[in-house]
Amino acid sequence: MIAPAPRLHAAARTVGAEGADGNGRAPALSPRGGPPRIHPTALIEAEVALGPGTTVWDHVHVRGPAHIGRECIIGEKTYIAYGVAIGNYVKINAQVYICTAVSIEDRVMIAAGVIFTNDRYPRAFEDGVEGLAASGPTEDTLMTIVGHGTTIGAGAIIGPGLTIGAYAMIGMGAAVVADVPSHGLVYGNPARLHGYVCVCGRPVARANHGDAGAAPALHCRHCGRQYGLRADDEGLQLLPAS
Ligand SMILES: CC(C)(COP(=O)(O)OP(=O)(O)OC[C@H]1O[C@@H](n2cnc3c(N)ncnc32)[C@H](O)[C@@H]1OP(=O)(O)O)[C@@H](O)C(=O)NCCC(=O)NCCS
Ligand SMILES: [Zn+2]
Repeated sequence: MIAPAPRLHAAARTVGAEGADGNGRAPALSPRGGPPRIHPTALIEAEVALGPGTTVWDHVHVRGPAHIGRECIIGEKTYIAYGVAIGNYVKINAQVYICTAVSIEDRVMIAAGVIFTNDRYPRAFEDGVEGLAASGPTEDTLMTIVGHGTTIGAGAIIGPGLTIGAYAMIGMGAAVVADVPSHGLVYGNPARLHGYVCVCGRPVARANHGDAGAAPALHCRHCGRQYGLRADDEGLQLLPAS
């Protein structure tokens, strides 16, 4: 027998009623600091916390428990699994798939069609056991963290168990299979580190920059921020100039 549909979150129902205009039109963005706005077709399960000012568009499904911070936008037809944590001021475009064990820090942008994964060697069954494997997290469920201010381009696929540093830029269509350093610019399948981007998103250094010790001070031609390229245990790092 198919399980009954999850109960709607009481707060979500109230706010959804506020957000709907009764004519099937999309809700306006939630006012800053006001109650979250939820499109009437969105399914927000019990134990989902939505911060003030957050807007949830049509046919989004958020499973509980999950936490979404303040002033976020969750684009239409996006799926967010239970156990996901999303910070403040996060922008998620349409048709994004965010699985369990994903944590997204503040000011992240996730473009349309991005897919996260959390299991490296998935099977529908448990070896030697009749029927389907349990769907809940197991010791094979790997945690992914998306750092503050990062952008994930349209259609990118994020492999399981990765750490994506702050202010990274992941190109459209990338298949990300390794950790990404802070400010790292990665793209391709498999995604490779091609350089570093500024807080404003523009590239400031290419990956073949040569010896980090000899790297000159870098400067963003778009916004003027200054950086140094330094080597540490994790490889090259783009750091704000002191
Ligand atoms: C990854 C990205 C930031 C690179 O920008 P850039 O550094 O200005 O790159 P360029 O256009 O100078 O291209 C540099 C090289 O990388 C290639 N390239 C650029 N983006 C690529 C991508 N996503 N995948 C594969 N190759 C890519 C280019 O073809 C070019 O190759 P070449 O040197 O052999 O000619 C950008 O292309 C991108 O994907 N942005 C995200 C767009 C997006 O998803 N927006 C969603 C919100 S609307
Ligand atoms: Zn800049």
